[in-house]
Order: sequence, then structure tokens, then C-alpha cells
Amino acid sequence: MTFSPVLTFNDGNTIPQLGYGVWQVEDDIAEKVVVQAFEAGFRHIDTAKIYGNEAGVGRAIERSGLKPEEIFITTKLWNADQGYESTLKAFEESMDRLGLETLDMYLIHWMQPKQDKYVDTWKALIELQKQGRVKTIGVSNFTKAGLQRLIDETGVVPAINQVELHPFFNQAELREFNASKGILTQAWSPLGQGGELLESSIIGQIAAKHGATPAQVVIAWHLAVGNVVIPKSVTESRIRENYAALDVSLDETDVQAINGMDKSAEGAGRIGADPAVSDFA
Ligand SMILES: NC(=O)c1ccc[n+]([C@@H]2O[C@H](COP(=O)([O-])OP(=O)(O)OC[C@H]3O[C@@H](n4cnc5c(N)ncnc54)[C@H](OP(=O)(O)O)[C@@H]3O)[C@@H](O)[C@H]2O)c1
Repeated sequence: MTFSPVLTFNDGNTIPQLGYGVWQVEDDIAEKVVVQAFEAGFRHIDTAKIYGNEAGVGRAIERSGLKPEEIFITTKLWNADQGYESTLKAFEESMDRLGLETLDMYLIHWMQPKQDKYVDTWKALIELQKQGRVKTIGVSNFTKAGLQRLIDETGVVPAINQVELHPFFNQAELREFNASKGILTQAWSPLGQGGELLESSIIGQIAAKHGATPAQVVIAWHLAVGNVVIPKSVTESRIRENYAALDVSLDETDVQAINGMDKSAEGAGRIGADPAVSDFA
């Protein structure tokens, strides 16, 4: 079996570059599909408190028989739990649901600038890492200004920034900023949530050239540009297909053609909320 390449964080730990995401997957289904993902070869799972399926992921880990050191598990602190003490409490509750002693990576799910608690929240993550409860700490949906503030006020640089990122919204500027600070970039909705992106003619032509599927081409592009990538599927054949993207290698012409699909200059491409202004409970 091909194993995912690993990338090294600024704290010295490593992460499998290709992982499996479980947003919008019911808890009982999560148990089944995470087991299928492990069988396909995935060793990195991305969940969050708000997905309501940490327990299902935990049951899948137990069923898989895989040892903690063989897998990489991420969960995220939800917005309503931001703040120092509430973060410490929410972390323990997530760990109980996951059934884990130590977590590979804990992320602040959204910056929530209006709430303005993310620096205190980050201090709690720093404490959890000091205590050895979590190996790696990072953020999700952070802007350049938010990252800079965390660094300025705590001196601790997040290991990763997980953001919306796909060929229609490729975040070139933020990726460059992240890299300049030693922060890895992780792509959420990496397939653009399926649909239009996977049906586009540019992706179709590159897929035909490599004897690959459109989803595999998009995943191979993420891997080629250095993103950590976490496609979601509840369809077993697609879980296997997505994992097999590791065997597809794009050339520079393909990568440039996909880079050219970005729509952000036209003010388009983004599917989800804008972290600079988003404010949800
Ligand atoms: N941090 C954040 O705020 C945030 C936000 C959103 C997502 N995420 C993370 O990122 C992960 C992935 O993002 P996402 O779930 O939004 O979207 P995605 O991975 O871009 O796309 C998932 C959609 O694509 C379909 N699909 C998957 N593989 C396919 C294939 N090989 N061929 C055709 N269609 C395929 C899936 O269908 P089926 O499932 O029906 O097969 C599903 O409808 C999430 O699960 C979550 O872990 C994080």
C-alpha cells in the first residue's frame, strides 16, 4: 500500500499530508466510514466538536485496532467554547468522546474576531501542549492579521492554518504568508464540495491525460502545491479513489493550469464564510 507523504510542523512533529474529513457525517455513519478510510489507507482523520461525530470517530479508532502512534487525529474547539478556562474544559470533553489520552492536533475552529477571545483561547492551547495532552496546536479560518496577533501576543506560532482552499479559491496570498511564518496550510473543502469544480473541462482534460478521475487530479494538485488535504466522502468507492490520488503525479503544466482556475480576482470562488468577518455561535 502507498502511504501518504508526511509534512513536518514548526514544532518538529509530522502530519500525513493526505487525510480524511468527516464534516456533515452523522455519528453512527462516521464510525463506519472512518473504518473504511483506515482500510483504504488513510491514517489522518479530521473531525471537530461541532460535527457531532467525535464519539463515532473514537469507536472507529477502537474497531480499527490501529495503535495511537499509527494514526493522526485532529479535532477542533468550537466557537462557543472560546476563552481560557472554557477551552480547557471543552478539550477534556472532546477527549472523552474520542476515547484518547493524547491528541495529535487541536485547532481553534474559527477566529471569531467580534468575540475577540482567540488570544486567550490560544493561551489555553499552549498550556495543553505544555502539559503533553496535545502534540500539535494550530488554528483554522485565521486571517494574516489574526495569525500575526497570536504570534505577537504569545510568541507561539501556530503549526497550521486550516482554511477553505480549492482550485476556484486557491488562497495564494495566505499560503505565502503562512509559509513565511513556518505555518503549514491545510485545505478544507478541497474538492470544492464536489460538483462544478470536478465537472470543469480543465480538470477533465488533465484527468484524461493521466488516466485519473477529476477528484484524484484535484487532490494531486493540493499535494503538489504543498497543502495538507482532507477530502470527505461517505461513499466507499470514492474513499478508495481519493486515497489512490497518491499515485497520480501532475507535471508543472498541469499545476499551472489548475493554479489559473482561481476566481478570487473576480471576487468569486469562496463557498463558505469569510473568517475576517464571520461570527457564528
Ligand atoms: N475548518 C473548517 O471550518 C472546515 C469547513 C469545512 C470543511 N472542513 C473539513 O474539510 C473536510 C472536507 O471538506 P468538505 O466536506 O466541505 O468538502 P469536500 O471534501 O471538498 O467535498 C465533499 C463532497 O465531494 C463529494 N466527493 C468526495 N469524493 C468524491 C469523488 N471522488 N468524486 C466525486 N465526488 C466526490 C462528496 O460526496 P459523498 O460524500 O456523497 O461521496 C461530498 O459531497 C470536511 O469533511 C472537514 O473535515 C473544515
